[in-house]
Amino acid sequence: MSRYMVTSALPYANGPLHLGHLAGAYLPADIYVRFMRMREHDILFCSGTDEHGVPITITAEKMGITPMEVVDLYHSIIADDFSRFGISFDNFSRTTRPEHAEFAQSVFLDLLEKGYIVPRNMKQFYCPSCKRYLPDRYINGTCPKCGSEDARGDQCESCGTWTEPFELINPRCGICGSTPEARETKHWFLLLDRFQQWLEGWLGKQTDWKPNVLKYCNSWLGDGLRERAITRDISWGVPVPLKEAEGKVLYVWFEAVLGYISSTREYFSKAGKEPDEWKKYWQDPDTRLVQFIGKDNIVFHCIIEPSLLHGLGNYTLPWNVPANEFLNISGRKFSTSRGTGIGMGDYLKHFPPDPMRYALAVNSPETRDSDFSWTEYRSRNNELADVLGNFVNRTLKFTASKFDGKVPDAATDEALHAKTVETAGEVASLLESFKFKKAVALAMDLAREGNRYFDTHKPWKSLKTDPEQCAVTVASCLNLCASLAVIFEPFIPFSAQKIRKMLGLENLKWSDAGRVLLEPGHSLNRAEILFSKLEEGFEEVMNEQDKPAEEQPASLVDFEDFLKIEFKVGRILSVEDIKKAKKLYKIQVDTGDMVRTVVAGMKPYYTKEQLQDRLVAVVCNLKPAKLCGVVSHGMLMASDGESGVFLVEPGPDAKPGDTIR
Ligand code: MF3
Ligand code: ZN
Repeated sequence: MSRYMVTSALPYANGPLHLGHLAGAYLPADIYVRFMRMREHDILFCSGTDEHGVPITITAEKMGITPMEVVDLYHSIIADDFSRFGISFDNFSRTTRPEHAEFAQSVFLDLLEKGYIVPRNMKQFYCPSCKRYLPDRYINGTCPKCGSEDARGDQCESCGTWTEPFELINPRCGICGSTPEARETKHWFLLLDRFQQWLEGWLGKQTDWKPNVLKYCNSWLGDGLRERAITRDISWGVPVPLKEAEGKVLYVWFEAVLGYISSTREYFSKAGKEPDEWKKYWQDPDTRLVQFIGKDNIVFHCIIEPSLLHGLGNYTLPWNVPANEFLNISGRKFSTSRGTGIGMGDYLKHFPPDPMRYALAVNSPETRDSDFSWTEYRSRNNELADVLGNFVNRTLKFTASKFDGKVPDAATDEALHAKTVETAGEVASLLESFKFKKAVALAMDLAREGNRYFDTHKPWKSLKTDPEQCAVTVASCLNLCASLAVIFEPFIPFSAQKIRKMLGLENLKWSDAGRVLLEPGHSLNRAEILFSKLEEGFEEVMNEQDKPAEEQPASLVDFEDFLKIEFKVGRILSVEDIKKAKKLYKIQVDTGDMVRTVVAGMKPYYTKEQLQDRLVAVVCNLKPAKLCGVVSHGMLMASDGESGVFLVEPGPDAKPGDTIR
């Protein structure tokens, strides 16, 4: 027995999670943890929501609520979806807890004192109209390498180069499009280069890690590690614990990876626990730290986090980081923002968790991206029903009608028993080495073997011709049902529990697989249907619903998409004619944050005087468009019908800049 600390990537509390998240970092972790618990290892499974960072503040602005309200909302949705999918965290915390901030700050100070963190003066882009410093990825501009106009301050997606914000030609604010200015500021840097040599040695020893993970790390090390700023000039985050750093917060990635430790600390701070016990899981060299993540998080867990832990000195380093590739949906990327993919909560509105757990385990994106489709889902669901469900059902039904619902007095079949023991052993060693796909396939093969055994031994015939043989067959099948409840438990825990209930068994351990769990005379409960089959045509209905936004009927828009439109109250400051344009006015509108030029077709309906000083409803984040030589940065909302065209009027007390929703 060993001690294990298992973590799953802390998801951003910035929206609901989808099945791609589940398949990547949560389902495999849960399968592993459930299995290891059944093996009676000392194991703890912690995670929580990552609740800081600029994207959350932007969501808050769009929704017209505070960042805290955003993360409260999504933390509870995410936690609820996980629990309904059976993801069995011991603790699911939040990085906005004050205890997390204190811990992250203490780590910062410790590394500062040890000389791994140093302050530097630097220049950073500041957007005067948004009134904020711009994080690298919120700066757009022309790529210095390939000339693409859509490069970001951290990366150019069209040529793949890592860019620096100041290298971009024609930099623009990624939020409002205006030109940012360079300002002097001070930031604290983690001297990652100081860990390069140590990391090379340490990672070099992890020969049993997944090749995709090691390949990624080696390419980072090959490029040479550079120091990285770990503080930011924003207000939403963990404050930097230094007087001279007022208004600055710790970079979300620096503190988020520490969220695993603070989640464990929270777990032990609860009533009845020993508060210092967390150290056993994070500071005892015998503890094996296993971190489940998606491939986009490899650098943070295999380079940055180990550097922090090593720098602190007395911490356990990851024992394995079984990162997964991505799950696609019918060949497309899962992305809630682009309207492709299936939300965990949306799925659960219609279907039970286990068939999806099974389908995703079978298609786990372990070594390469894998694809989810409803056709595949239907066939996996029906496989559960036809193979496992059918075997359990026919065995229990037969026992109920022919043996009065009691386990017959007979020995069990040697060969079937041997096969069960063998499968349990193979599944165990596959799970121990994070090969979930293969493990679940072997489990299903054993259920298939059960049906084959039932078919070849024909208990309905032997009941009359050879009752002793019939009793052996039934006792063997019943005990196989019990073993299947054990072996399937990590994958489909809700159904495994139902099987146990039907068989009248309590919680089982992994070593129970292959044992004679059901003694002669033991009474069984009523058989229930485990899985419902899905009819042909099911996938057509589902595919229709999952079409990406642009293929959906125009009348349906996701709420999330609606929130992307920035509606604001504006006041008209001036109105001018545009040469050669019969219907258009060039209008300057104050929308609180800035004065924007809007070109509107209002000339036939309003005079300039009627428009002057009027309050209007403005769509602010439309892509700029050139109309009759004038660039328009928004749109005025108006009704348009037989009665005429009328500007939408905010109430008389509304102020420029107020959001409309
Ligand atoms: N919230 C980030 C993501 O979902 C980071 C997760 S892992 C952490 O990609 F350890 F950094 F929190
Ligand atoms: Zn801006």
